Amino acid sequence: GLAKIKKEPVKVLVSGAAGQIGYALVPLIGRGAMLGPDQPVIIHLLDIEPAVLSLKAVTMELTDAAFPLVKGIVSTTKAAEACKGVKIAIMVGGFPRKEGMERKDVMSRNVSIYKGHASALKRFAAPGCKVLVVANPANTNALILKQFAPSIPEKNISCLTRLDHNRALGQISERLKVHVGDVKNVIIWGNHSSTQYPDANHATVNTGKGWKPVREVVPDDQWLSTEFITTVQQRGAEILKARKLSSALSAASAACDHIHDWVLGTPKGTWVSMGVCSDGSYGIPPGLIYSFPVTCKKGEWSIVQGLEIDAFSKAKMEASAKELIEERELADSCLN
Ligand code: LMR
Repeated sequence: GLAKIKKEPVKVLVSGAAGQIGYALVPLIGRGAMLGPDQPVIIHLLDIEPAVLSLKAVTMELTDAAFPLVKGIVSTTKAAEACKGVKIAIMVGGFPRKEGMERKDVMSRNVSIYKGHASALKRFAAPGCKVLVVANPANTNALILKQFAPSIPEKNISCLTRLDHNRALGQISERLKVHVGDVKNVIIWGNHSSTQYPDANHATVNTGKGWKPVREVVPDDQWLSTEFITTVQQRGAEILKARKLSSALSAASAACDHIHDWVLGTPKGTWVSMGVCSDGSYGIPPGLIYSFPVTCKKGEWSIVQGLEIDAFSKAKMEASAKELIEERELADSCLN
């Protein structure tokens, strides 16, 4: 038989590790849900000084979970130490918007946080490190990271819209009363914000007699162009209202899916949504971090090409791009 090759552990960074998303994400990584059941990991946990006790608690619990795949834990409040040698960096830490705060106040806090992360990652991360930004404003935080870490290839910097993608799959599966695994190829275009465009025009559903366009199967055609879109756009706000906290379980799970598919590949005939650097595809301004449909192979994503875009979709895609340009301008003004 084939000799069993023992894989070297991969160092994975989670920033904001003491927070709600970190708490839900770390066990997924430890169990092998992210990089596979045969891939040992060394988990690097980073958070800020005021969270040091919670960070210590997560670290203790991670030890207590006794995951055989976890070959080491680095727990620190120092970005340089946290970034050392990491191949995967999941950036969950950021400054959350609090009541009464202006957009600009939040932006200026995050701009400086992500500028700092950029310099730590470019100096200390392993070559080829893949970066996923989860913290809001996710696309613009990723853009700042890209701007201040020019030595990290832009194809290695991404932001999370898989959460919205999964939400869209969930909505369609509920509507059609089919298992969520029997729905695929929705698209989230644009910003991880309420201007995102959840697009079901190319989505398909497994009817038992092959995959059919969702558009042909949904009983009420209007729903996909109205309520479906607003439900997905507003889902984060709805959870926040119900939980008094942002989504954490689903955000962590989506982050896990994002890295899993990026590293291990998307299944044949399936695409997922990722916030990535635009190359001008579909008329989206190059350089923006924008959510596109992508397939992944051998650790690299590529934007799905040649999808037909109608006028309704085009307007929504442009509106989200416009918002991202405004966010970039706001971020730039915070830097000057
Ligand atoms: C989400 O999509 O659940 C979050 O990004 C919402 C938020 O603003 O925290």
